[in-house]
Amino acid sequence: MIGRLNHVAIAVPDLAAAVAVYRDGLGAAVSAPVGQPEHGVTTVFVELPNTKIELLLPLGQDSPIAKFLERNPAGGVHHVCYEVEDILAARDRLAGAGYRVLGDGTPKIGAHGKPVLFLHPKDFCGTLVELEEA
Ligand code: CO
Repeated sequence: MIGRLNHVAIAVPDLAAAVAVYRDGLGAAVSAPVGQPEHGVTTVFVELPNTKIELLLPLGQDSPIAKFLERNPAGGVHHVCYEVEDILAARDRLAGAGYRVLGDGTPKIGAHGKPVLFLHPKDFCGTLVELEEA
């Protein structure tokens, strides 16, 4: 059911420092920061030949990644995003098999303008999983 790895998201406490690591240290192509207030994050995309890295910095009071950074002050891998062809079919298949879909199960428009859903990390090997309709 899942297809390509769309991105790996890494929460960081200092976006400029993280950009320097990826752009200057690792020599990757890095986008300008984009504020996504509806998701409570500022994002920078690192373009790799076969996937992307999404650097996430908290934005606003109720950022979903603020608590993650409290537990992981140096930053860390926050979620992985897999592509699916039909997000509603994927949701129904997973929910029907007893997997927990976060929120009310209604896809939101994600950072790439495509519908996304998040899946409970306890049901997926301890990793927060994002599904994106590609
Ligand atoms: Co993501």
